[in-house]
Amino acid sequence: MSKCNIKLYYKNVTAEIIGDEHGITKEDFTELAEKTPSSIIQLNKERKAGKTPYRDLPYSKENPKRVKDLVAKVKDDCENLVVLGIGGSALGNIALQTALNPYMYNLDNAQRRGPRLFVFDNVDPVQFGSFLDWVDDKLDKTIFNIISKSGRTVETASQFMIVRKLLLDKLSPEGLQNRVIVTTSAKEGILRSISNEVGFRKLVVPEDVGGRFSVLSDVGLFSAAMCGIDIDALLAGARDMDKRVSCEDFYKNPAAINAAINYYFYNHGKKISVMMPYSYHLKDLADWYRQLWAESLGKTYALDDSEVHIGPTPIKALGATDQHSQIQLYREGPNDKLFTFLQVENFDRDIKIGPAPDYASELEFLAGKNLSTLLNTEKTATEYALLESKRPCLTVVFPEVNAYTVGQFIYLYEVTTSLAGALFGINPYDQPAVELGKEATFALMGKSGEEYKELARQIQALTGVDNEFLV
Ligand code: PA5
Repeated sequence: MSKCNIKLYYKNVTAEIIGDEHGITKEDFTELAEKTPSSIIQLNKERKAGKTPYRDLPYSKENPKRVKDLVAKVKDDCENLVVLGIGGSALGNIALQTALNPYMYNLDNAQRRGPRLFVFDNVDPVQFGSFLDWVDDKLDKTIFNIISKSGRTVETASQFMIVRKLLLDKLSPEGLQNRVIVTTSAKEGILRSISNEVGFRKLVVPEDVGGRFSVLSDVGLFSAAMCGIDIDALLAGARDMDKRVSCEDFYKNPAAINAAINYYFYNHGKKISVMMPYSYHLKDLADWYRQLWAESLGKTYALDDSEVHIGPTPIKALGATDQHSQIQLYREGPNDKLFTFLQVENFDRDIKIGPAPDYASELEFLAGKNLSTLLNTEKTATEYALLESKRPCLTVVFPEVNAYTVGQFIYLYEVTTSLAGALFGINPYDQPAVELGKEATFALMGKSGEEYKELARQIQALTGVDNEFLV
């Protein structure tokens, strides 16, 4: 494991680069440097008081041990690992796999260091059906990891019930017991009760850690370890970042600078935050970030109960791909966005561009250059173009993409989110607005209880299709 540090580069948000109208002036920065440390101190205190247990996940000895013990028991007999979960119970798993395993991992046995990995975070019958057709004759070599903290999430519960029937039909009650691993609350929930009843192997979603902050627990560690990812390095990276983001000196704390810059721009007309990795490996970390940022910071009420309707809108893009779909808008559309690039200095490998054909001398300038040079040049070129249009740009620089730097990134963004929550004066750890949709689904799917019947009536009255408006 190479222990190198990711860095946050922030000069390109300053007035020096993009002017006083859109950039942060020295005076603004001084104000942020005065305001933010009280939030760092508050966060450090909350952490000591045990109020933010996600902060201590990288230090747990018990979690990685439990995960590794289970991996040792099941890995040899597992060719396919299927994660069934949604939101915080899936996005971290997907992000780790994309970041730390080869693109062709599932298809090329030579590139695999463990079972094939499939993560289903939806209930699309066509997608899931196609997978079930494929896996039907491979069930005895497949493990299903059902992840749900609450255990009551309809998407995951439904997937589980489909798989349960399949395993019972095709294998046996022991087959069901052996092929399912449940990751859920250690204390409560229907999934815990089912696990106890059937005798499934169990992993734990830690108490008081929300799904979107749980990737460094059993939730993300199990599939990662099964697929050969170095979870010790991942956790070591997070621990090392913890030292940097706990520092009360604003200018030395990357989470503080990041949160303060995001807070500043939100309050100065840039309410959209675009994360744009220039690396396929990092692409799904932008997806993970999108949930973390949106669910944590999008809130109606401030901590003092005043109505605020706060929340920067996170967008994900991928360089260079989205230069050809988004940059026109980003440069010439409203100047309402803060851009965060993720850039890799040293790629795992490189590929030289071949020679130009004799009759195409205009391509000569590309011949013999590395693809990594082209990709990073495109990042610089795009950033330059955005800066010309006075758009603020941050960059998170990865010296390389490995488990250690990815662990750093995850922890950096989790603490940035907590700090942004403190600056906005909201609670970043709840998601009350997600509940109504869940309750409405229960009601419409016929869950028993008078309150659900009444809710179903209300929903139908509001959402029943009126043909007058159908063209
Ligand atoms: O971050 C969160 O809390 C949510 O995205 C949850 O992870 C998601 O709703 C799934 O919940 P559960 O793990 O309880 O099935």
